[in-house]
Amino acid sequence: MKTLFVFTLLFFLCMSFSDGSRSRVQVRVMNRRGNGKTVEIHCQSGDDDLGNHVVPDGQEVNFSFRESFLENTRFWCDVQWSNEVKYHFDAYWSDRDRLGRCLSQCLWTMMEDGLYGYDQEKQVWELVHLAVKG
Ligand SMILES: *[C@@H]1O[C@H](CO)[C@@H](O)[C@H](O)[C@H]1NC(C)=O
Repeated sequence: MKTLFVFTLLFFLCMSFSDGSRSRVQVRVMNRRGNGKTVEIHCQSGDDDLGNHVVPDGQEVNFSFRESFLENTRFWCDVQWSNEVKYHFDAYWSDRDRLGRCLSQCLWTMMEDGLYGYDQEKQVWELVHLAVKG
């Protein structure tokens, strides 16, 4: 019984230490349409719902967190330019991002022509969704 207690204690100590050593990751989802139009942004994870925000041109939604002990963090966002143009994407996903794509920052830019994501390791912006108007 005593051994079990010691193991449990050690487990939680390790958990808190490893959590503290993980650096924070900042996510920024930016409206850069450049035409004065808003974008609706709603980001959430299994644990946190950051709410729906109507974000003016030039502004953004940002948040930061630490990678979880199990390295299974996933924040997804729903963004909406208009009734026709809306997307759902993973703003941070451990499996995709923790080894380099988003070491300290996960950047997302919404331009009039689409949604772009930044790869920190390769240092390139990638087009994720093309906003084709039907
Ligand atoms: C995060 O978003 C807020 C609200 O839009 C903004 O005022 C702030 O400058 C942003 N932070 C960074 C680091 O860009």
